[in-house]
Order: sequence, then structure tokens, then C-alpha cells
Amino acid sequence: MKSFPDNFFWGVATSAFQLEGSPNADWATWDPVLLDIPQITNHYALFREDLKLLKDLGVNSYRFSLEWSRIQPRPDTWDEEAIAHYQEIIDILRNYNIEPMVTLHHFTHPRWFLERTPWHRTGSIEKFLRYTEKMVSSLRNVRYWITFNEPYVILIGGYLDGCTPPGLKDVPLSLAALQNIFTCHGKAYDIIHQYVPDAQVSVAHNMSVFAPWKKWNPLDRLLKKAANFFYNHSIINAFQTGIFVVKFPFSRPVEIEVPIKGKLDFFGVNYYTRIHLRFNPFKKMGVELRYLDIEGHGLTNIGWEVHPRGLAKVLWYASRLNLPLIITENGIASHDTEQKVKYMKQHVDVVERCLKEGLDVRGYFYWTLIDNYEWLQGLDVRFGLYRVDFKTFKRHPTSAATYYAYLIQSRSKM
Ligand code: GAL
Repeated sequence: MKSFPDNFFWGVATSAFQLEGSPNADWATWDPVLLDIPQITNHYALFREDLKLLKDLGVNSYRFSLEWSRIQPRPDTWDEEAIAHYQEIIDILRNYNIEPMVTLHHFTHPRWFLERTPWHRTGSIEKFLRYTEKMVSSLRNVRYWITFNEPYVILIGGYLDGCTPPGLKDVPLSLAALQNIFTCHGKAYDIIHQYVPDAQVSVAHNMSVFAPWKKWNPLDRLLKKAANFFYNHSIINAFQTGIFVVKFPFSRPVEIEVPIKGKLDFFGVNYYTRIHLRFNPFKKMGVELRYLDIEGHGLTNIGWEVHPRGLAKVLWYASRLNLPLIITENGIASHDTEQKVKYMKQHVDVVERCLKEGLDVRGYFYWTLIDNYEWLQGLDVRFGLYRVDFKTFKRHPTSAATYYAYLIQSRSKM
């Protein structure tokens, strides 16, 4: 019997801002690197050429995002040309027989949104839902929708660690933002289904494997347990019950009600690495994390541990939802294409094993198509199957692209 079903999604994933920037986005002025190269890879102009690369790879699906700040540059203005631009992407994909998967929110916001109604204010809900309805009613031929990319990463970066917009470190505000973001998901789920009755809707949730820094240390083990519960499991529970339970070690759990019970048609999993944790009162939030090359699979250029087995672990966690699972992102930052090829093979092997063991995995999206802007690392880390020269904007195939094309072809037959 074939391990990979015929309709398995072999795809790549991208996000709009990381490829094309946007003058009206919060992030455009947040990171000084972008002041020199606001158009990043110039994808907004070169998108037809880039979509052609998808055809060359032989993928049958493509995950990309809409840049909200291009579509609604001011609170009272919809840019119809920008909407037409994203429709053209969809049309080209359909023409190539590639299934589009559209992400409504992938980290960036229009600047006015963050200034007026950031996520911790209730006004954010109405703003996001207006944008959602505008997009769902305007765009044709999209079945697969991701409302939010990595909602927890938005909250940790923007509200706890402060390394991403709006740059806050405030636990009560982070909880208010969590409630509003997930309220948006629940309501957006209904809006999307109203316009596209057979829609398939999810979030793309970042899942990681956690381990204690020192196995023998009970405090490290406790921290690992707390992190695993919060980061991997609390969202699954919330989709089952409508209640988020946020438990920090040594404090009473907080329960937050959100209208998301059952509001999922599949579950999108982004997986990259394993994280070792320990308590350290001198570190932010009392937690110190590091990546160790314990099993000899190496570290990526960002320093993350390559830990293929972890993908199976998080997929099994996610299977508690009893829904189809799609790996909406998996990839490696590396200048060494051999390392990239190995990473891809090892992770796809894990997916194959999971399928044999009975997990309902419906797709694998490699992150990412061409080198792009990486949120905290700028332009120095290379996730792409194609290399980008950021001076000339030329794209160059790498052996990772050739290998991914081969992998798709060979595994589709197996
Ligand atoms: C994910 C994120 C992507 C990309 C990737 C690599 O968390 O969704 O935008 O940056 O990580 O770090």
C-alpha cells in the first residue's frame, strides 16, 4: 500500500511580508534592516516568476499570506488593486493546478491597527473581522484558509518578550490579546464558512518539543512540563472545550473563555525544533532556553536543534483533535544545501512513518520557496529552496530545490 495518499498536499509555504515588505506595515519601521531594502526580494513585482518556480518544483499546493497593510492601508480605505494582485496569484495557482492555502494574518499589521486598536483592545475584533469579511467576499476559488499564523508566537513576541510589535511585556495585556485573537478566529471561522460552505479552516500553530536542561533537575522538569502543556496542549484543549487554561508554575491557573469550540476543519502544525529549558531568575520571565545537538543531527544557522523525531511527537499530540493534520511549515535555515536536503528527507521520512502508524496527515509544506526576510535574523539566514541575491533580486535554484522536486515525485509513487 502507498504511504502517501494520492491527494496528499506537497507544498511550500511563504508569507507576504517576508517576501515583499509593505510601506504601511508595522514591521516596516520596526526593523532598521528593512529601511535599506523595503521591497525585500521584490516579490510583489516578481511574483509571476516566483509562482513559476512552484510549477518547476511540481508542488500541488501553496500556502501564502495576504498583506493586510497593503489591502487596507488606512482604516477607511480598501486598495482594490492590492486585492486584485492577490486574486491574480490565486488564478495563476489554479491554472497550474496548485491548491491555494491563504493565511489572513501572518504576524504583520497595518500601522494604524497597532496604533489604534492593538490586540489587547476589544476594538481589534471588529477591525480584523471587517478585513476577513472583505477578503472572503472578494477572493474567488480559495477553499483552504488559515486565520492566524502562530497565535502564541504573536503573543510571546509582542506581549511577553517584547521582541516583536507592539513590543510589550505585560502578562494581563497578553491574556486580553489572547482572548481577542481567538475570538477573532472563532468568528472568522463562521464568516469564512458563510461565504465558502466547503471551506477548510484552521490556524497554523507552532509546536515544539521541550526537554529539561538537566534531566535530573526537578525544577527543569517542572518547567518542561509547564511549557509543553501551555505551548502544545492548551490550544488543543481550547479547541475542544472553548476554554484556555493558562498555568504558570507556582501560580493558580487562569481560565479564559473563547468561542472556538469545534471551530477547526483541520489542524495546521508548524514544526522546527526541540528546546531545552531551565529556570533562571536572571533571564526574561525566569526562563532560559537553549538548543543542544544531542543526537548529532546538527544545529541550523539560527542555532536550532535538528530533531526530526520531534515532528512525530507533536503530530501525535495534535491527533487528540481527531481532525486531519497538515504540516503547514517545516524547514531549516542553512547556507549548506546538503544540510537542507538531509533535513527535508529526515522530516519527510518521519511523516511517512506517521502515516504508516495511522496518523491522518494530509500535507507537508516546506518553509520556504525562496530566501526571505526572517523576523529576528534579517536577511542572513537562508530558508529558501531557491537562493536570492538581495542586491540584484536574482533567484538561483539550489540542490535543495532539485531534491524537493525529486522527493515529491518519488514519494507520490510510493
Ligand atoms: C515560523 C514563521 C515563519 C518563518 C519560520 C522560520 O515560526 O511562521 O514566518 O519565519 O518560522 O523561522
